[in-house]
Amino acid sequence: MAFDIEMIKAVYAKYPERIAAARKVVGKPLTLAEKILYAHLWDGDATESFERGKSYVDFAPDRVAMQDATAQMALLQFMQAGKDKVAVPSTAHCDHLILAQNGAKADLSSSLTASGEVFNFLESVSNKYGIGFWKPGAGIIHQVVLENYAFPGGMMIGTDSHTVNAGGLGMVAIGVGGADAVDVMAGMAWELKFPKLIGVKLTGKMNGWTSAKDVILKVAGILTVKGGTGCIVEYFGDGAKSLSATGKGTICNMGAEIGATTSTFGYDESMERYLKATDRADVAELANGVKEHLTGDSEVYSNPEQYFDQVIEIDLDTLEPHVNGPFTPDKATPVSQVRAEAEKNGWPTKVEWGLIGSCTNSSYEDLSRASSIAKQAVDKKLKTKAEFGINPGSEQVRFTADRDGLLKIFTDLDATIFTNACGPCIGQWARAGADKKEKNTIVHSFNRNFSKRADGNPNTHAFVTSPEMVAAIAISGDLGFNPITDKLINEDGVEVKLDPPKGDELPEKGFAVEDNGYQAPAEDGSNVEVKVKPDSKRLQLLDPFAPWDGKNISGAKLLIKAFGKCTTDHISMAGPWLRFRGHLDNISDNCLIGAVNAFNDATNSVKSQLTGEYGPVPATQRAYKAAGIPTIVVGDHNYGEGSSREHAAMEPRHLGVKAVLVKSFARIHETNLKKQGMLGLTFDNEADYDKIQEDDTINFLDLEQFAPEKPLTLEFVHADGSKDIIVANHTYNAAQIDWFKAGSALNLIKAKA
Ligand code: F3S
Repeated sequence: MAFDIEMIKAVYAKYPERIAAARKVVGKPLTLAEKILYAHLWDGDATESFERGKSYVDFAPDRVAMQDATAQMALLQFMQAGKDKVAVPSTAHCDHLILAQNGAKADLSSSLTASGEVFNFLESVSNKYGIGFWKPGAGIIHQVVLENYAFPGGMMIGTDSHTVNAGGLGMVAIGVGGADAVDVMAGMAWELKFPKLIGVKLTGKMNGWTSAKDVILKVAGILTVKGGTGCIVEYFGDGAKSLSATGKGTICNMGAEIGATTSTFGYDESMERYLKATDRADVAELANGVKEHLTGDSEVYSNPEQYFDQVIEIDLDTLEPHVNGPFTPDKATPVSQVRAEAEKNGWPTKVEWGLIGSCTNSSYEDLSRASSIAKQAVDKKLKTKAEFGINPGSEQVRFTADRDGLLKIFTDLDATIFTNACGPCIGQWARAGADKKEKNTIVHSFNRNFSKRADGNPNTHAFVTSPEMVAAIAISGDLGFNPITDKLINEDGVEVKLDPPKGDELPEKGFAVEDNGYQAPAEDGSNVEVKVKPDSKRLQLLDPFAPWDGKNISGAKLLIKAFGKCTTDHISMAGPWLRFRGHLDNISDNCLIGAVNAFNDATNSVKSQLTGEYGPVPATQRAYKAAGIPTIVVGDHNYGEGSSREHAAMEPRHLGVKAVLVKSFARIHETNLKKQGMLGLTFDNEADYDKIQEDDTINFLDLEQFAPEKPLTLEFVHADGSKDIIVANHTYNAAQIDWFKAGSALNLIKAKA
C-alpha cells in the first residue's frame, strides 16, 4: 500500500527528544501546534524559541499531496530538479478536472476524454518519480489523504488550500503553491512564518440537528474570512473529544475559510477508532506510544488565555445548526433566524438544489446522517422539492455507502450520484439553465460559496450548511425551513416532522472497496517515459530559465507601472485560464492582464516603446522579448497578494521580464520571484514610484556587485533625457542570490543533484 509506516516510525522516534528541546527553549508548557512545529524543524532539535507571527522558520514536512489542477506545474517544475525520486512520500490526486453532469459513470468517462492528456501526464510523472497516483474517480484529495495518509503529530504540505483537512487526524497540514511542494519533494527545507495560535475550547456535546460543520460555521461567523490569517487554530476541550475524526476534519477543512494557516486537534479515541477502521491499526499503536506528545499540555488547556494569542469558547450543548451565506462563508446565520434574514435581504427562499459532498463533508458519517433524513422523506411520504446531487468523498466511501444501502436511499429520492470528485464545489458542474443567470438559491455542504463558484451564475445564492441540513432543506425546498420546529405536509396532506439525524460515525461492517483507484509508482522509474505531446495545448515541458550573464542589465524598458491592488489573480487570472495551468507559454497570455496601468487607468493596455502604440500586456512583452529587450514591472503596495500560485512569477520570467520593483511585496510572491530567478526589489523611498515615467529606459548600475543587505541602484532615463537615480532594496540572502545567478532555484538544485 502507499502508506509509509517506516516514515511515521521515524517521525515518532524523534518526538521525545525534540519536544524536550522545545520545552527547554520555549520555557513553558506547549500547545499541540508548537509540539508539531518544533518536532519538524529542518535543523533538528530547537536551539531558540521562535517569535509567533515574526520568525521565519525552516521546516521538514513529512508528506506532500497534490491535486490535478495544481500538480501539473508543480510536477513540470519537479522534472527540472534533476532528481530520480521524490525525497518525501508524495501523492497526486485526480479530482478537480471531472465535470458533474449526468451521473458518475457518464461523467467520469467524458472527463477522461476531455482531460485524459493531463491525467496521463500526471500518471506517468508519478510513476517515474515515486509518487503515489490516485486515478480519476478515486476520490477527493483531502478525503483520500484522511483515509490513507494523515497521521497524528505529522506535518504535511499540499498544493491545495484545503490540505488543512488533515488536521482532523491531528496533523499540521498546510496548503501551499506548487513551487513549495517542489522544494520539499526535492529534499529542501520549507519555510513558514511561525504562526500565531488561536485556541478554540469546545465544551458540552452536540445533540439533535447540530453537527461538526456548525462548529466551524459558528467560528467563521466570529472570526470572519480574515480572522485566522497567520494563525494555527487548535481545538481542545471535552467537546473536541466527542467529535468524530471526520467531523474534526470538517472543522479543520473550513479553517481555510477564515484564512488560518491550518487547524488541528489533539490525538484522541476518535482518531484511534478512525485509524483502525481505515486499516491502520499499526499507526494507532505507534501513536499510542507517544500519546502525551500528540496533544497540548494539560496546563495549556486549563489556562488557555496564557498560552494562546486568542481564545474562543463554544458550548456544543447550545450550538444551533447554521446556514452560512450567501456569497461568503462567514455570513453565519443560526437556522432559527434564516427565514427572517432571507426576508430582510431578499434572498430567494425557493431552494433549487441540495448538494452533498466536497472535501468538507463527504465522509461515510456525512452520508449516513444525511441519508437518515432522506429516508424519512420516503417513509413519511414527503416528496423532495429540490433536486439532489451527491459527490461521495472517495471510492471507499462510495462503495461502502452503496453496500450499506445509503446511496439507494438518495436515488429513491431521484438524487444524482456524481463522481467521487470535487464537481460543483469547483465549478465543474454543467447545471442546466445556469447560463440564464436567474436569481436562485442552492444549499450545499461545501466550504466556499463565492459568487459564480458552483455554477458560474453570479445570481445563484449558495448557502453552506451540514449534509443533514442540506437534506432537510432540499426536501422542504424552503431556505427558511427549520427542521427543529417546522412541519411539512406530505403526499396525504398530513403534517409530518423530520426527526433529528442519526448516523454511524464509522460503518458497522467496516469499510470495503474493490478498486480504490490507487496506483503505486514503479520501484525504479528510470525507464518510465513522461507523456507530453509536443503540440499539446494543455501541457508543455519546461525549459530551464537562462542563468544570469553576470552583467548589469541595461537598456531595459518599462512593461507596466501597475497602480493599486495587484494580486496573483491580476498577474495570472484563474477561471478559464485554469485549463492552461500545465502549459507555461499558453498561460502566459494572461500575464498581468488584470493589472491597472498607472498611466491610463486601463487594464491590459500598455504602451510599447517599440511602436508607441498601446496594446495588451502579454503581446507587448512578447515583442520586447523577440527584440531582445529586457523589461521591468513596477508595482504598488503588497504586490502579489492572494494565492501562492507560482504562475504569477513564472509567466513574467518566461516572457522576459527581468525585475519587479514595488513599494512592498506579499511575502510568498516575493519568494516565488526569487525562486524563479527574477529580481524582486522594493523602493527605498516609496515616493520614487511617482518618478517612473511611461517611456523610461532603465539601467542597473551595480547588479554586478549584487550582495545580501546591499541595495541596488537603478538609473531611470526619461524620454526628455533627464535621469533619476533610484535606490532599490532587496531581501536576498546569499543562497537566494545563487538562485538568481543560476537562473532559478531549480537550476541550482539540478546542478547539485
Ligand atoms: Fe475539491 Fe472543493 Fe475541496 S474543489 S479539494 S472539494 S474545496
